[in-house]
Amino acid sequence: MEIAQSLVVLLLIGCKLPNSQGCTFDLAKSHCTCLFADLKNLFNILTCMQAFVFEFRDGDFKNPMDINALSLESLVPFLQNPINKIIVGNSVLHENFLLTFLTLTQNVRITELVFEDCIFIGKVSWQFAEEKLPSVFYLQFTNVSSASLSDRGKDVSGISSWLAKMQNIIFTRSQITHIPRTISMHFKDLNVLDLSENLFQDQGMNDSFSEGLFPNLRTLKLRDNKLTSFGMACNALSMLPNLQDLDLSQNNFSEPPSSSCEWPNSLLLLNLSRVGLEHVSVHQLPQTLEILDLSYNRLSNLDASLPYLKELYLTRNRLHSLPSVTNFPVLEVLLLDGNKIPHLSKDQLEAFKYLSIVRADQNPYTCSCPVVNEMKELPKSSFVVQQWPEDYFCDSPPELKGARVNDAQSSVFQCHKLLFISIICVLILLVCIVATVCWVRTCCFTQRTA
Ligand SMILES: *[C@@H]1O[C@H](CO)[C@@H](O)[C@H](O)[C@H]1NC(C)=O
Ligand SMILES: *[C@@H]1O[C@H](CO)[C@@H](O)[C@H](O)[C@H]1NC(C)=O
Ligand SMILES: *[C@@H]1O[C@H](CO)[C@@H](O)[C@H](O)[C@H]1NC(C)=O
Ligand SMILES: *[C@@H]1O[C@H](CO)[C@@H](O)[C@H](O)[C@H]1NC(C)=O
Repeated sequence: MEIAQSLVVLLLIGCKLPNSQGCTFDLAKSHCTCLFADLKNLFNILTCMQAFVFEFRDGDFKNPMDINALSLESLVPFLQNPINKIIVGNSVLHENFLLTFLTLTQNVRITELVFEDCIFIGKVSWQFAEEKLPSVFYLQFTNVSSASLSDRGKDVSGISSWLAKMQNIIFTRSQITHIPRTISMHFKDLNVLDLSENLFQDQGMNDSFSEGLFPNLRTLKLRDNKLTSFGMACNALSMLPNLQDLDLSQNNFSEPPSSSCEWPNSLLLLNLSRVGLEHVSVHQLPQTLEILDLSYNRLSNLDASLPYLKELYLTRNRLHSLPSVTNFPVLEVLLLDGNKIPHLSKDQLEAFKYLSIVRADQNPYTCSCPVVNEMKELPKSSFVVQQWPEDYFCDSPPELKGARVNDAQSSVFQCHKLLFISIICVLILLVCIVATVCWVRTCCFTQRTA
């Protein structure tokens, strides 16, 4: 049956490829990698008989006739095996290649289809025979270019029943600025949409997400796009009634938002890492959040209260103190490394009743005796203190700068300065009293004898 898989590929690509070098098979990953040229010869792919992932590279199929010339129907009876993933890499493909491929494999269960570093040329009007939809519901396109999506509404209308069942689409590093409504209107069941590393601007958000689109979307990733308005992003995304997991990291929200906005009530995870934030206020964040990533920003305080928040990532900001327990009553994970916090106390942290993990290395600790003593108690707490003791260093006093907090040994005199001073004062006082008494006695005595 595995031979049938390779036959598909063979016949699909067949012709015209020189320089065959043989496929390589990674048994541990069940991953077979072939150049398209290797497929000229059936023996090349025999090494891959146990693969569940097939990767084909360096194809050049500019002419749609290359594919149409093959007689594919005779293959269908062989196509029975489930295949986890087919990856097509570094190739130039006429869009007809994709259509032919999907038509050919209608009866094979392929879970995921990936195109990496590919150039699609030409346009086809998409159509599948009724009741013979492809089994692929996970599609990935990374670093691909194709004809503009803007006028493709008519071309995809013929496959709306397939698109309506699509579950997972990753479309990254492909210079997309928006998704036209004529296309997005078909994705009635889409769960995951990853649009990271594209060119979405604020207006593109407004054009791509509006009422009634993506009704089932749970995960949306817009990492590393060109968004500058947190408010406009919120307005556009407030239309997604089931959104749970939103990644807006690596955009630029350094301008404070002008108005507040209602996020979808379903939102559980919000990633705002590396977006240049200086302030966040209560009104801007969805109250339903359970995980919030605010790492690598410029926050010096946190004016937010999130009653359900379990994980708070504040790595690399400018905070001078811990967030308040009343604002985050059920916190379990708190990352504070790389801030400006001068001391940590076990009691203060234990006030977060559900805390299980804390990380706070790379802060400028003031290694006074009480701070050092308190921090040495940290390992005895009920939560795990990550990176302790190796990455917690003193910033002051000058003589301890650069020392590990856990190793900081102030002299006995410094730790008990007050006690020492009191003892010295008492001693001086005693000496004075004794001296005075003696002097008085001596005086009296000499006077009497005189
Ligand atoms: C993107 O794909 C093109 C081929 O389509 C390739 O030449 C280029 O190196 C790829 N870029 C990256 C960053 O992989
Ligand atoms: C965004 O789109 C909505 C309709 O979906 C429209 O009412 C609003 O004016 C648009 N905003 C901007 C800034 O274009
Ligand atoms: C947020 O996004 C960054 C990438 O920009 C990633 O490294 C980080 O793990 C994400 N945080 C969470 C909580 O998923
Ligand atoms: C972010 O936008 C502001 C202006 O709104 C600009 O001054 C700043 O340089 C931008 N930051 C980055 C990293 O592009």
